Amino acid sequence: MKKAVYPGTFDPITNGHINIIEKATRIFDEIIIAVANITGKNTLFTTEERLYLCRESVKHIEAVKVVEFDGLTVDFAKEIGADAMLRGLRAVSDFEYELQLALMNKYLDKKIDTVFLVPDYRYLYLSSSIIRQVIGLGGRPHDQIPAVVEEAIIKKFEERELKDLKD
Ligand code: COA
Repeated sequence: MKKAVYPGTFDPITNGHINIIEKATRIFDEIIIAVANITGKNTLFTTEERLYLCRESVKHIEAVKVVEFDGLTVDFAKEIGADAMLRGLRAVSDFEYELQLALMNKYLDKKIDTVFLVPDYRYLYLSSSIIRQVIGLGGRPHDQIPAVVEEAIIKKFEERELKDLKD
């Protein structure tokens, strides 16, 4: 049984992340999507919402679990007995940041390696922040995110507008 942990903020999960997960199921027996509780990012969605959107978006894929984690990713990986860390590598711009994460994780725990997978071409420049921005400005990138995610972002922006009107 080979188990991989796929850590991230997932604010929100996109079809690019799902593409990586689908590819990873051909290599690993089990994929644990680890949603970081504290990310240092000012997230649009709460941890509970990010977990829910991940769960809804991957329910068609067997052997995938979605869990929340706090603290160091390597500690979490050890705790759940993961064999590897999984990350997506998109454009060259990801490389330095990903190398830094992978080397620091390796320094912290020699037993855990990071496996990088490249998403399909159509997701190479996709990111959660670009999706948030596009939807916030009225765009509807239907084939880049699951429908449940699109609806959740629209709802979130509507709630914010209402709150701003009330304040
Ligand atoms: N498709 C689409 N987008 C992708 C993607 C893919 N295949 N792969 C990455 N991304 C995007 C995300 O959408 C996100 O975009 P955004 O920043 O524009 O919103 C960006 O790449 C990175 O996000 P994500 O993959 O969620 O990772 P992250 O960099 O936010 O997460 C952690 C980093 C959580 C893994 C890292 O901070 C961590 O391990 N934290 C725990 C504490 C720890 O152990 N620290 C030491 C680490 S060495």
